[in-house]
Amino acid sequence: MDSRAPSFTDYLRKAEERLGGALGGSCRVAVYHEMNKDLLKIISEIEDERFRSELRYSERELTIRSKKRGFTCFIVYVDERPMAFVFGFDDPEEGAYFSDSAATLIERKGVGSILTALEALYCIEKGYRCEKMITEDLDESGRRLVEYWARFGFRVTGRHPKIGVEMRLELTQENVGALSGKYIP
Ligand SMILES: CC(C)(COP(=O)(O)OP(=O)(O)OC[C@H]1O[C@@H](n2cnc3c(N)ncnc32)[C@H](O)[C@@H]1OP(=O)(O)O)[C@@H](O)C(=O)NCCC(=O)NCCS
Repeated sequence: MDSRAPSFTDYLRKAEERLGGALGGSCRVAVYHEMNKDLLKIISEIEDERFRSELRYSERELTIRSKKRGFTCFIVYVDERPMAFVFGFDDPEEGAYFSDSAATLIERKGVGSILTALEALYCIEKGYRCEKMITEDLDESGRRLVEYWARFGFRVTGRHPKIGVEMRLELTQENVGALSGKYIP
């Protein structure tokens, strides 16, 4: 019997299988560390569909973010059509990863949770000690975002009227194990 812990690549394959089952298609999750024209188009199109205008990043803003140290972007493709993304990069705090933006065109089928679990697994494997993010309590469609992120273990660390709600997930083996066990069993 192979007693080694599953690697991030093993989880990526499991996530693809699980998403394929949930979405009824062939699923692929790609990981990028550099921006290119196709990736800009994919993120912009999903953001246009899912975010109100003031929350969308321009191509210039996306390009600037992609040049930050540690930039990592996951894209979910269903039958080769891009459906969801999450991206982030190193936070100024040492050992912290800032998860900047995430969205999916197919909601409530587990895509968001699987991407969150994958990102956490990726981060812990890379040696990050925590993940940080900024969100809002309620968005314009009534999504309770603080509650949504809290279910993955993120806790509120600050509230700023102009910036939003700061949240943080400690990347312990226990927290990440619970996340992957629930969403990528
Ligand atoms: C937020 C978002 C990424 C969630 O993705 P998703 O694929 O729909 O989420 P999932 O299907 O994985 O759902 C995860 C859990 O949240 C719950 N959930 C999902 N959407 C919810 C909603 N609108 N209200 C309450 N609960 C919700 C699900 O029931 C599920 O619960 P469970 O873990 O107990 O089964 C997606 O709604 C989205 O793209 N929103 C627009 C962009 C956005 O707001 N991004 C986040 C910015 S901080």
